[in-house]
Amino acid sequence: MRQVAAVAVFAAALIAASAAARAEGDPEAGKQVFKKCHACHNIGEGAHNSVGPVLNGVVGRKAGVYPDYHYSDANEHSGITWDVATLKKYLKDPQAVVPHTKMMFPGLPKDKDIDNVIAYLQTFGPDGKPVTPAK
Ligand code: HEC
Repeated sequence: MRQVAAVAVFAAALIAASAAARAEGDPEAGKQVFKKCHACHNIGEGAHNSVGPVLNGVVGRKAGVYPDYHYSDANEHSGITWDVATLKKYLKDPQAVVPHTKMMFPGLPKDKDIDNVIAYLQTFGPDGKPVTPAK
C-alpha cells in the first residue's frame, strides 16, 4: 500500500513539473489558432519579419529583440520577457500589457485558445526548427 502511495506521489510530481515547464495547451489546436496571428507573423524555418516580428523562440525571449524588425518604442522599452504567464496576459489584451504597442490585435477572448497557441509557439526553437519542449 505504501508503495502505491509513493508511486502516486511520484506521478503527481512529474505532472506538476511538466506543467511548470510548458504551457498547458495543445500545440495541434494552437496551429489553428495561429492562423489569426499569421496575418502579421511568420514562424518556422526561413520565416521573415512581416507586419509583426518573426515569432521563432519567442517564449522566454526578451521583448523587442528580433533582428531587423522595427518595433514600437513601447514594445522595445517594455522590459518584458515573454514567459508563459506574461504571454497569457498579452494575448488576452495586448494594449493592457504593452500600452501603445503597434500590434493592432484585440486579443484572444478564450483562455483555451491562448494556452493552445502558446503551446504551438513553443514547438519552434529560435532558429525556427522544431523543438520538443522541456519535459
Ligand atoms: C494585425 C497584425 C497582428 C496580429 C493579427 C498579431 N500580431 Fe503580434 N505583433 C504585431 C506587431 C505589429 C507587433 C510589434 C509590436 C510593437 O513593436 O509594438 C507584434 C508583436 C508581438 C509579440 C512581441 C514580439 C517581440 O519580439 O517582442 C508577440 C509575442 C506577438 N506579437 C504574438 C502574437 C500572437 C501569438 C498573435 C496571434 C494570437 C499575434 N501576435 C497577432 C502584429 C500582429
